[in-house]
Amino acid sequence: MVQYSYCQMTLKINVLVGTMTGTAQLVAQELELAWDDGEVQVETLLMDQLDCSVFAREGVFLICTSTYGQGDVPDNAKPLYEDLKAKRPDLSQLRYGVFGLGDRTYAETFNFGGQRFDELLAELGARRIGERVKHDASSGVLPEEMASEWGEEWLKLARRAAGQAA
Ligand SMILES: Cc1cc2nc3c(=O)[nH]c(=O)nc-3n(C[C@H](O)[C@H](O)[C@H](O)COP(=O)(O)O)c2cc1C
Repeated sequence: MVQYSYCQMTLKINVLVGTMTGTAQLVAQELELAWDDGEVQVETLLMDQLDCSVFAREGVFLICTSTYGQGDVPDNAKPLYEDLKAKRPDLSQLRYGVFGLGDRTYAETFNFGGQRFDELLAELGARRIGERVKHDASSGVLPEEMASEWGEEWLKLARRAAGQAA
């Protein structure tokens, strides 16, 4: 009898977290629990101390960030955001998703943190996987709940994107 065996390549997902009070980190933890198994390897990194060299890592990326101030990225995300703006690396090989957190009470700047990263990465040639998520803290929906539901679909798209890139 012939036995067939195949080996599916492990998908690596780097989750980069921009947060002020930890909500985005809860979202990342939820996604890591949902995704991380034998076939998917998730690494979650707080953006503190990161610079644009982080995008040399293997795998796809998820930017998981809230919004503060006048529609700014959170303080811990500023060094990475500013480094990308200053160095403008070619990110045409990069595939990424965005899970943004915000509050519609801030009508003029709703979810600008995620939007800023999204626009900058696209300018640098990176291609987004799926739609940008815009969680609204005033909606009553917990971001972790939204994340686990959304995460299933996004994982399928990420697998496809990683296959295309290979
Ligand atoms: C001082 C302050 C400013 C904020 N500014 C904005 C804003 O401009 N736009 C927005 O969509 N949300 C804004 N938010 C809402 C946060 O982004 C939202 O509550 C988010 O879930 C917090 O996530 P974090 O705990 O990961 O930082 C602000 C919240 C605070 C406390």
